[in-house]
Amino acid sequence: MQTKAFTPLLEVLPGLLAKFECDNPGGSHKVRAARHIVNKALERGEIIPGRTTVIEKTGGNFGFGLAVACHKFNIPVELAVGLSFSPVKRQCLELFGAKLIGVDMLNEGLAPREVIEWHLAHAEELGKHYYYTDQFNNPDSLAAHEFETGPEIVEQLKAWPHIKSLTLVKCAGTGASLTGIARSLIAAGYLIRVVLVEPVGCDSQSGVFTDHKFEGMAVGVKPPFVDWQLISEVKRVDYERMLICQKEFARANGYFVGNTTAACLLIAQELAAKTDEAHKILTLLYDHGLWYLKMR
Ligand SMILES: Cc1ncc(COP(=O)(O)O)c(C=O)c1O
Repeated sequence: MQTKAFTPLLEVLPGLLAKFECDNPGGSHKVRAARHIVNKALERGEIIPGRTTVIEKTGGNFGFGLAVACHKFNIPVELAVGLSFSPVKRQCLELFGAKLIGVDMLNEGLAPREVIEWHLAHAEELGKHYYYTDQFNNPDSLAAHEFETGPEIVEQLKAWPHIKSLTLVKCAGTGASLTGIARSLIAAGYLIRVVLVEPVGCDSQSGVFTDHKFEGMAVGVKPPFVDWQLISEVKRVDYERMLICQKEFARANGYFVGNTTAACLLIAQELAAKTDEAHKILTLLYDHGLWYLKMR
């Protein structure tokens, strides 16, 4: 079990604790899932350095996490990145060492999923031994947060010995960080309420999604790792209110956080007004906001 703290946990407002996951290598909490998935696949012999290429469909934070996790073992990473991702993000993924695959196929209208399926089906002709990390179906995503991020937070909470209960304010893409962290806090004896933050118009539990600019949450599939029994309440955030919160947080704290983070902060700040020594709000700063300026 990993208990060494990698990212700070700070009380950014009275009553509101934030875990600075944006300070991880690769710029987000997703490096933890990537690292755990890669390490476990190495242990099981499913990734063989020198032979295996890791493949995934993402242009998001998981891609950066994979590039970081694989570089250590000299494992090549190939990513099918949807055309909606910014050119800067593509360039940066390449800079981190990932190879972007299937660009022609994407230009012809294929989905990133189909690009992956084609590559897996043609692995032999391509002379590749692929390991598909498949973050939405890989239980090691969840384990990363249950056995690494969660215990790290539990260790850091010792700095607030009076806390007995926490309201966890989180959004969900895969849901791995939400459920993993919540389970770990419960196992450590904390009373937990979980507030799920969603964009206005989305209802992940029912599989209802609209287009929105909160990249990383409510991604168009029911989050596979959300344990719905943990969710006490769902709060919906609109883009304009998120932008105001993002700007105010940057000015007050010097951190220009990403859109999903600002959405969670908006709800977390409202709830922080009703805390006391024994009860605090906990949220994650998932990533930084510069990526998303292009989306405005
Ligand atoms: C910026 C951002 N916020 C939130 C999430 C959701 O994280 P999880 O997949 O652990 O639910 C992601 C996932 O990619 C993300 O990139």
